[in-house]
Amino acid sequence: MMTVSFVWILAALSLQAGTSYGRPSRTRRDEPDPIFAVPAEVGGKTYINKGLVGFGLIPSNFTDSTGDTLGGIGSAIAIKPGSFTKNSNGTFTGTIIAQPDRGFNVDGTIDWQGRQQIIDFVLTPYYGTDNLDFSDGLKTLQLNYRETLLYTERNGSKTTGLDALAVRPATAMDPPLPEAPSNDHMSLDAEGLVVNADGSFWTSDEYGPYIYLFNVQGDLVQAIEPPQAIVPFIDGQLNFTSDTDPDTGRAGNQGFEGLTISADGSTLFALLQSATIQDGGDDKTTSRYTRLVAFDISSPLAAKPPLIGEWVVPLPQTKKGKTLASSELHLISENIFLALSRDGDGHGGDDSKSSYKQADLVDITDATDIHNTKFDDPSNPIAVNGDLDSSINPANYVSFVSFIDSVQLARFGVHNGDPVDQTLIDAKWESLALAPVGDSDYPDDYFLFTAADNDFITTQGISLGQPYNAGLDNDNQMMVYRVTLPGATVPGVTV
Ligand SMILES: *[C@@H]1O[C@H](CO)[C@@H](O)[C@H](O)[C@H]1NC(C)=O
Ligand SMILES: *[C@@H]1O[C@H](CO)[C@@H](O)[C@H](O)[C@H]1NC(C)=O
Ligand SMILES: *[C@@H]1O[C@H](CO)[C@@H](O)[C@H](O)[C@H]1NC(C)=O
Ligand SMILES: *[C@@H]1O[C@H](CO)[C@@H](O)[C@H](O)[C@H]1NC(C)=O
Repeated sequence: MMTVSFVWILAALSLQAGTSYGRPSRTRRDEPDPIFAVPAEVGGKTYINKGLVGFGLIPSNFTDSTGDTLGGIGSAIAIKPGSFTKNSNGTFTGTIIAQPDRGFNVDGTIDWQGRQQIIDFVLTPYYGTDNLDFSDGLKTLQLNYRETLLYTERNGSKTTGLDALAVRPATAMDPPLPEAPSNDHMSLDAEGLVVNADGSFWTSDEYGPYIYLFNVQGDLVQAIEPPQAIVPFIDGQLNFTSDTDPDTGRAGNQGFEGLTISADGSTLFALLQSATIQDGGDDKTTSRYTRLVAFDISSPLAAKPPLIGEWVVPLPQTKKGKTLASSELHLISENIFLALSRDGDGHGGDDSKSSYKQADLVDITDATDIHNTKFDDPSNPIAVNGDLDSSINPANYVSFVSFIDSVQLARFGVHNGDPVDQTLIDAKWESLALAPVGDSDYPDDYFLFTAADNDFITTQGISLGQPYNAGLDNDNQMMVYRVTLPGATVPGVTV
């Protein structure tokens, strides 16, 4: 009895001490140190990056249930609706659904079936200022692979990662689809992912660039074709190859990297990785003005979900004026998004030292809606030589969470730049997911999950049953930041 009331009094005292300053006590160990806070202002509201709280990985040589190397999980991630739980011991558990792109394709595209990797996690947020050893840091985000879901077409045929050198003619159900001529299977280079409450899911891709709805079994249900300004044309013909740039439309391998849904489930938003060819996408110095499109999916199986909005997003640039293309998009609240823009440097990248990898804020409140205007026609570019048409007001793009902050990385034993070893941060972060912290003192606080696409780079790989050695072990890294997002809504993920 004595012990219980003594503890209770201590707890009450510490609560008082906290509230007397109008804020919770600084002695609490379940919140980030305020010295880490990095604010950003958008639309009169303050967003706060509170720092890195979790780091985990799946080893580069891990294999999935089909026997293939598990890789590329960072192309897109989603937290399985209903899985996220705050536990009484201070940990958070849940299930991440991760979607790789098109398999080990460093030496050319392969006949690899699209899939989801289902991964359980235990997040034990680390809020301390001391630098953990890398191995201790990995305990903050434990990842346990559970199973794989494979993707098929309407008739049960496997999707393929092979280059889409053929076009399957439109049918009553589908627009013209990207297809591999060697086996007539639908070509898919999956990048964006939205998982619905019933387990069905939307996937955006780079070939079309299209948006596909699959049912909970992974069977294709619907294909959405973007406007004529975005689909790729070569010599006046639709041509979905990723091997060469088209004459107009999305550049090769610069498709719909970002996909996100409105809180009420009625609208899908997709972001092109960088400018279309006619808008300057053939050169990194002119490719910054990319397009964000919105489709009304309130009647998802209706013949053709209508395009209801299109805006221009000005991507960040390097000091030398090269575009930092965007690999993911996540809606926070009406008109406000997170976008993940980055260079290709880091572990598995061109250079060990990265200069930019960020989850930034994008606000389209005052941006010009260009859908149903002359810019739908590829012969009317939105930008020429990197200069945006003066009739267009682009979105407001604001710097927010840096994934390469050396102080934050060092707290988990991770670094940017040489030496090239297991503790070097991965190059290609391409995914975002949010889950509420469930802290009543900070109701707008969320965990921001991000995962890297390691391109299946391992010295002990297996692809389509054949062993391979990509010359480097590049683990599948994952990070969790804590952020304050005023007014955010995260459908399907509650504590
Ligand atoms: C991955 O590599 C580690 C270290 O070499 C080894 O212990 C482990 O058995 C390997 N796992 C697989 C699935 O090959
Ligand atoms: C905390 O609880 C969760 C859920 O029961 C469990 O998965 C996790 O292992 C526990 N962690 C510790 C450190 O006890
Ligand atoms: C499924 O349909 C596509 C398109 O008609 C065709 O190319 C493919 O061979 C079919 N697959 C099966 C298993 O019937
Ligand atoms: C698409 O373009 C590629 C490269 O120019 C060519 O090999 C292929 O045959 C074209 N496909 C179609 C359907 O025209």
